[in-house]
Amino acid sequence: MNVSEAIRARRSVRKYKAAQIPDEDIKTILEAAMCAPSACNTRPWEFVVLRSDEAKQKALDIHPYAKHLAAASIGILVCGRPDLQEGIASGFFPQDCGAAIENILLQCTELGYGSCWCGIYPGEERTPKFKEAFGLTSTPVALIVVGVPDEEPAMRGFYDETRVKVL
Ligand SMILES: Cc1cc2nc3c(=O)[nH]c(=O)nc-3n(C[C@H](O)[C@H](O)[C@H](O)COP(=O)(O)O)c2cc1C
Repeated sequence: MNVSEAIRARRSVRKYKAAQIPDEDIKTILEAAMCAPSACNTRPWEFVVLRSDEAKQKALDIHPYAKHLAAASIGILVCGRPDLQEGIASGFFPQDCGAAIENILLQCTELGYGSCWCGIYPGEERTPKFKEAFGLTSTPVALIVVGVPDEEPAMRGFYDETRVKVL
């Protein structure tokens, strides 16, 4: 699968088959995340893999729109490190984490896994709750649900000419 195909094959998947993801695939997914561009190459991110039932349950107890994590193989907390950014890089961590997240989604697609981006930051309730539950000093930006898909959702993205201006 090439990049163009992966972009168009990606879907938010919310139904999963019971399955484990091998460590090497988790590493490949996280490596893809860390290949993302970032402001001044500050790489202001860290990742927490939720694999145990206890860890997944903690996230399920907090996130109101991530119930599909229960049947998925893992969740990945993508966390921002604003402390690594100063000067002209300052404040760009949500965008940098967004780029890392999209790489995760596309790598999952290529590996045959389904995934779903579940937003955390800047949710005023969720963000501090995730920080506390997982003892984070970083800022949890999103929970990415990953697993073996048990549905084939229709494509929701499309080209919209009204959103384009050529000057
Ligand atoms: C910032 C952000 C937050 C999202 N949060 C959630 C969420 O909490 N729960 C969920 O099921 N999907 C969530 N989604 C997935 C969107 O609903 C999904 O991307 C959108 O409906 C388009 O569908 P597609 O991903 O299949 O193209 C989120 C997506 C983004 C980019």
